[in-house]
Amino acid sequence: MSDPYSPTPEDHFTFGLWTVSNRGRDPFGGETRPPLDPVEAVHRLADLGAYGVNFHDDDLVPFGSTPAERDAIVKRFAEALESTGMRVPMATTNLFSHPVFKEGAFCANDPEVRAYAVAKTLDAIDLGVQLGASTYVMWGGREGVEAEAAKDIRGALDRYAEAVNLCCAYVRDSGYDVRFALEPKPNEPRGDMLLPSVGHALAFIAELEWPEMVGINPELAHETMSGLSFSQAVAQTLWHGKLFHIDLNAQRIGRFDQDFRFGSEGVRDAFYLVKVIEDAAWDGMRHFDAHAYRTEDSDGVWQFARGCMRTYLILREKVHRFHDDPEIRDALEAAGVSAINQPTSPAGSAPRDIASLRSRAAGTDLDALGARGCGHEHLDQLVTELLLGAR
Ligand code: GCO
Ligand code: MN
Ligand code: MN
Repeated sequence: MSDPYSPTPEDHFTFGLWTVSNRGRDPFGGETRPPLDPVEAVHRLADLGAYGVNFHDDDLVPFGSTPAERDAIVKRFAEALESTGMRVPMATTNLFSHPVFKEGAFCANDPEVRAYAVAKTLDAIDLGVQLGASTYVMWGGREGVEAEAAKDIRGALDRYAEAVNLCCAYVRDSGYDVRFALEPKPNEPRGDMLLPSVGHALAFIAELEWPEMVGINPELAHETMSGLSFSQAVAQTLWHGKLFHIDLNAQRIGRFDQDFRFGSEGVRDAFYLVKVIEDAAWDGMRHFDAHAYRTEDSDGVWQFARGCMRTYLILREKVHRFHDDPEIRDALEAAGVSAINQPTSPAGSAPRDIASLRSRAAGTDLDALGARGCGHEHLDQLVTELLLGAR
């Protein structure tokens, strides 16, 4: 019998080159794993059933490469994509590793640094497009502050918007088929970062010159670091039509940025996330932005990658079982879940409609409604039992 949790390219799983290449360095110790050749990463991920890989410019073409070196690297990488059928749906720029970005990139106080950051991004867009990317992620790793007096936040947001607008203008003028996805994060590496949550980023997009070209790349770990519900953030992003990409991993609230294997912490959160995107029939990539524990050798890295995808598929099956389970259906019915889709004022908002709503409300039996139980304990326990394999 075939393994139902064995990933295939139709599942649209992608990994960052930087995820499987992560060498286990942390603030307290150096690398525990050897470097990984991007071409080997493509082959190993293809063997595991992934759909594609994504990269930062510097993950593929090391910083400081000559144009001839760049061309040779890109050619070899494109051959690996060709021979495996792997795709590059998304690309991004490293605007955080080099010391030049220590005070910010798009939002550095120094205009020379900002111009360099924008130019590096335009080069990285060219590279991404050359390899087939149609989504461009912007994660402002160094956009933020420790010393609050050192940054005029409103001015910094003007510069952030200016940089995104410049990138959009470039994509339009080049005739590229590319959309941008902003990735919010509350802190790490900066003490406080700009666009700290999905909500902040959604509001920012509305102020841009071409808001339709820009959406969100929400990350499970980042919203969880803020103590926010990731599945709710994703649901609202979908509601705005702004879910352009997603970063899946695992994280415990109150910890450093852990980037653990998807589902390894917070199985319920992972389940509700899978439920939100599967119920919406969202057609984007299921992208993992995570890495293997520092304890692992390269075998552990491939176990990690396989585990991310398997857990997603297992949770996807749980979502189907949730919908098919008669007792859960009854519990949903008892909790009135589908009634949220009935308008509060079905007739509309004309004065007579509002008058009719008020006269209906005048007859409300407040005591009866206030005394009624919602059935949430029963429903929630059924979900727990489903996830624990007891149903
Ligand atoms: C992090 C971020 C990054 C970005 C990546 C793509 O916390 O380090 O999640 O991994 O997702 O740089 O822009
Ligand atoms: Mn992250
Ligand atoms: Mn990320």
